[in-house]
Parts: sequence; C-alpha cells; structure tokens
Amino acid sequence: MAVAYRLTVLGTGYLGATHAACMAELGFEVLGLDVDPEKIASLQRGELPIHEPGLEEMLRRNLANGRLRFTTSYQEAAEFGDVHFVCVGTPQKKGEFAADVSYLDAVVESLAPHLRRECLVVGKSTVPVGTAQRLADKLALLAGPHVELAWNPEFLREGFAVRDTLKPDRLVFGVASERAEKILRDVYTPLGDVPTVVTDFPTAELVKSAANAFLATKISFINAMAEVCEAAHADVKQLSLALSFDERIGGRFLNPGLGFGGGCLPKDIRAFMARAGELGADQALTFLREVDAINMRRRARMVDLARDLVGGSFHTRTVGVLGAAFKPNSDDIRDSPALDVALTIRQEGGAVTVYDPVALNNVRKAHPTLDTADSALTAVRNADVVLLLTEWQEFVDLDPEAIGTVVNTRNIVDGRNALDSEIWRAANWNYRALGRP
Ligand code: UDX
Repeated sequence: MAVAYRLTVLGTGYLGATHAACMAELGFEVLGLDVDPEKIASLQRGELPIHEPGLEEMLRRNLANGRLRFTTSYQEAAEFGDVHFVCVGTPQKKGEFAADVSYLDAVVESLAPHLRRECLVVGKSTVPVGTAQRLADKLALLAGPHVELAWNPEFLREGFAVRDTLKPDRLVFGVASERAEKILRDVYTPLGDVPTVVTDFPTAELVKSAANAFLATKISFINAMAEVCEAAHADVKQLSLALSFDERIGGRFLNPGLGFGGGCLPKDIRAFMARAGELGADQALTFLREVDAINMRRRARMVDLARDLVGGSFHTRTVGVLGAAFKPNSDDIRDSPALDVALTIRQEGGAVTVYDPVALNNVRKAHPTLDTADSALTAVRNADVVLLLTEWQEFVDLDPEAIGTVVNTRNIVDGRNALDSEIWRAANWNYRALGRP
C-alpha cells in the first residue's frame, strides 16, 4: 500500500459496513462509527445485520487481524482518521419525493468540532445535487480550513457489494483541490487500474443520480414494451433477447418482469425529480414520472393476471408466493415489488403464504400477520395459483412435477420471466408470464 492513511467510515449500514470491511481488507486501519450502539456491538462481534455474500467472512477476518474496529464516539473517530468516509442513508422524506439529507448534516455537525488536524471528509451517500457544496461550507465554518471535503459516489449493488467495491466499473472523485484528488487516488491505489473521472462536486453528485435514472429507465423501457407485447400478443422475452444483440443497447437491465424496487432506485429517481424541480429544471426529468408509473403498473398487472387465473376474485382462493426480497441474493424487502403484490392480494381477500430463502425474518418482523412458510413446497400447498415474484435460483430449479403434486390447481404466474415455460407447460401447468402470450 502506497500511503498508510487511517480511515473512518461514518454510518455502518449497507454501504458503510461494506466499505469499512473492504478498506480493511485492502490493508488500511479502519474505524467504523454508527450512532446505533446495538449495530456497533453486533458488528464488533462479527455479526452482520444484512445478508451479503462474502461480507461477514471479510468482517470477521479483519476484526481478527486488528485492522477493523467499531465505535460510537465521534471524538475517537476524529482523532483516529486521516480520511473520513460518510456513508449514511438519504431516505425518501415521508409524503414527499425529496431525499432526507438530515443524517449527513448530523454527521458533519457531530464530527467537525472534534477535527483538530488536517484531514479529508469524503461523502459517499447518494444526495441531491448541491449538497456537497453546502456541506463543504458547513465544514469550513465548524472545523476550519484544515478540513476539506470531497465527493466520491458509490455504485455498489446489493448482493454484489464486495465485488462492486473491490472491482468497481469506475471511480468518480468530486474534488475542490489537487490535494484531495491525490488522497483519494492514494486510498484507491490498491484497487489497481480503475477508470477514474475527476470532476467538481455537482458533476460527481449527478453521476450517481443519472446512473440510477438510466438503469430505472432501461427496466421501465422493457416493461413498457411488455405492456405493448401483451396487447399485441407478442413475446417480450424474445423481443428483449433480440434487442440485446445490438451492442448499442446491450442485454443487461433489460429483463422484463415485476420491475424495480429496493432501497435505492425508486427513491433515488423520485429525489432526482424533486431536486430538478427545485433547480427549475423539472421539465428535463418529467420522463422519470413515467418510468416510475410504468414500474408501479407492473405490480398491478401481476395482481390482475393472478386474479384472472383464479376466476376473477381472490375470495376463498389460496395463493402461494415464491419470493419476498426485492431481488435475489438479498434479504432486503424495502419497496419490494414481490411483497407489495403479496400484500395487495391478501387485502383483496386471498389466503396468501409467502416463502423466501433469506428474507423471511425481515418479512415476519415487518408484517407479523402475513402467513409465511419455511419452504417453497409448504408455501404452495393447496394453492389455486403460484406466483414467482423474486427470481431466486432455488425457484428456477424447482421441479414442476414435484410442486404440481401439492398444489390445488396447476396455475403459475412467472413475474420475473425466469422459468422455462415449455418445461412447465409440458408438466400440465397453466403458465402465464408478464409480457408474454
Ligand atoms: C441499484 C444500482 O444498480 C446500484 O448501482 C446503486 O448503487 C444502488 O441501486 P440495487 O438496488 O442493489 O442497486 O439493485 P439492482 O441490482 O440494480 O436491481 C434493482 C431492481 O431492478 C431490482 O428490484 C431488480 O429486480 C430490478 N431489475 C433489474 C429488473 O426488474 N430488471 C432488470 O433487468 C434488472
């Protein structure tokens, strides 16, 4: 390692816990901080509150070798760190589209008074453009000129957080000085040759919002095509495949289905629209309203398809739901399309049972009255219709004959276009999917 900076990571949620463990793995001494003492105690014991492949092992390894530890003390963090990464969340405000950036302000206000020596504070959270400059001004006021701010957005995906952090597609540095750029380059030297864009604060902040807006648009584009396919009796899966061979389009993020959810894309496109509005540029992003609307319509369409299959009403009907996480390889149920569909059907009178390979604990905590099962087979027992709502490999591998013997009627709606329709139809299932005849 080129320079032995000591790093802090402020906020140890999804992003922070991953960043802290990965930076320690790269050889840095890292101190993670959170205001939640329970979270800190659990991390310090090597227990990760989230499901993320490879991360818990990495956490334990670096706790054991002494490079990583955790605290709730801002004074300790300020004394320890040369570079402070700010990784707190920016959730959607209640009843509004805008992002709540108050956790960022709280970090700056808590840290700044303790910062007595030269250091760099680096924002990684997804923020409305303009936040970095406002925080830089606040930091200068509260700490003084020896403390500088930089903005370094993070693009990691849940389920691939370790890989995305250690092998990022690109690095973006929003900086106000060569010194800040040099420190960030030094910190990321162990990652090797990564394409790096060095720019100003607002551009760095916008890169993240634009990337998420593009990804959401790509998904809603193919889901809009699915709507047209349904009307025209065409097959969106084949359409998507044919589009994917065009190198200008590419096949990734072109899977039609129940649409996007999770803790990022939905709230980030809404916050982006809200911020553009404040800047007087709302017209530029009106298409994102449509992206959001197309996305939400998929959930309603899924419910309609399922209702049709059980005879027009869910009353007295049994519905087996496979999947609750917002995507596979994650236990995250924030804004999960799968859970949304399950809850809507229950509200319409259906007897719903949900199974998910890792998200069940979260489902039980958030929705204690929703029926859950500990296996796919139990969830679909006596079902009048089976809904595949999160494309876990376990569901893709299901044997249609085996589960056919426990259901009441062999009806399935593939909400993620993940199953081989021919195999299911050959096993006498009435197979339906979003966007396909
Ligand atoms: C996303 C961005 O990818 C990441 O760069 C950013 O830092 C945070 O937000 P994440 O929320 O982990 O990451 O999930 P992602 O893998 O992007 O999937 C988002 C949603 O889109 C999921 O609900 C997924 O099921 C859905 N999706 C994805 C589709 O419906 N179709 C696709 O083709 C791809």
